[in-house]
Amino acid sequence: MSERFPLESPSMSRRQLLNFLTGAVVVTTASSLLYPAAKFFIAPTELGEDGSILAKDINGNLIPASQILAEPPETRALVAGLAGEPTYLTIKEDSTLHSWGIVDNCTHLGCTFPWNPNDNEFQCPCHGSRYDAEGRVVRGPAPLPLKLASVKVEGEYIRLSPWTEIDPRTGQKPWWI
Ligand code: FES
Repeated sequence: MSERFPLESPSMSRRQLLNFLTGAVVVTTASSLLYPAAKFFIAPTELGEDGSILAKDINGNLIPASQILAEPPETRALVAGLAGEPTYLTIKEDSTLHSWGIVDNCTHLGCTFPWNPNDNEFQCPCHGSRYDAEGRVVRGPAPLPLKLASVKVEGEYIRLSPWTEIDPRTGQKPWWI
């Protein structure tokens, strides 16, 4: 009686191993291709433990940092900021974002105001207050410089957080904390 070898088992094992390896290669390749795309579309946590948020547009959609940074230097880009307050982001000469944003809320009676690039000022239409490019009062009745927010690019998005450090314009504790 001849001894029979179990041909099926080794063959199946090799096939299973081959399938496993093929699957692993496919998964690894797909992951490496999809990760950058997924990273772009999956935003980091919107609300930070420090009260920070990701900047959004007027419709409540997250704004990609690349969209803002595509604007020319010295552009003031208005985004929805902390507590829904519109906030101006400044694009610097080196095409990066200034580390602070300027809150679009006049310190006189709270009107919003446009940036006037010709005069290089924020000019409040309500009672004529004017602020320089960094939010210092140039002309009243506004009593205080404009509030700041901290700005950081985080991956594909822009994170705004409360400015709690010394106000670099006055060298003093910020009036808003
Ligand atoms: S609210 Fe801006 S000047 Fe009065």
